[in-house]
Amino acid sequence: MNMIEQFLWVIVPYLAVATCIVGHIFRYKTDQFGWTAKSSEFVEKKQLMVGSILFHIGVIPVILGHVAGLVIPKEWLHAIGVNDHLYHIGAVYIGSIFGFITLAGMIVLTSRRFTKKSVRQLSSVSDLIVNVLLLFIVIMGTYSTVVTNVVEPSFDYRETISVWFRNLFIFSPDASLMANVPLSFKIHILTGLFIFAMWPFTRLVHVWSVPVSYINRSYIIYRRNKR
Ligand code: HEM
Repeated sequence: MNMIEQFLWVIVPYLAVATCIVGHIFRYKTDQFGWTAKSSEFVEKKQLMVGSILFHIGVIPVILGHVAGLVIPKEWLHAIGVNDHLYHIGAVYIGSIFGFITLAGMIVLTSRRFTKKSVRQLSSVSDLIVNVLLLFIVIMGTYSTVVTNVVEPSFDYRETISVWFRNLFIFSPDASLMANVPLSFKIHILTGLFIFAMWPFTRLVHVWSVPVSYINRSYIIYRRNKR
């Protein structure tokens, strides 16, 4: 195993996670007022609605799919009756559908950010980078699901990428598992790790502040000021 592979598949993942954790603590302590998604809704609403809804409808099942494919070992799924064929059908068909929905959302959001003058003027360099990077990650993920899985049917990411991924969490990293992984998956994963490292320094921090408590919060009572 050469040094570059050790660097990419052992050092980079830990570096990304450490930057993500320490970065969030730092941002929380130093910039709570800046902890926001910096809404641009008041300058452009239509494309934001379409892009944002498509992206979020797509990405939530995609995240659940990543958990099923990367975190849950094959054998556990076999035990509950999900054999390889069934898993493959679900991963390729359902994965492709939601991959394309996420991609459509990202295309609308990215084109809005770059082509609508008012939105562009409100955007920082970090907003533009996050947008392009997310678009690229989604393109590479969808390409891997739709094309690579079909062109290289003998490649099984649940015996390579998924095992490599889980080994990181038990501090037993094994870069050799990534040696024969197709390039599109490698690029997808490295850029995915990069966005986790960037996360705390960008508008993506808003993800941790979804106002879930709004659903059952008490009413806010407004009273007329009689004076
Ligand atoms: C280091 C982290 C990541 C790893 C190890 C990873 C791994 C994978 C794998 C193995 C697939 C293929 C799934 C299949 O063919 O069934 C995939 C697909 C995909 N990934 Fe990732 N990914 C990561 C991060 C991300 C991030 C940050 C995004 C951003 C939204 C993303 C979006 C997608 C999309 C849209 C697809 C195609 C749809 C699907 O199959 O679910 N991934 N990823």
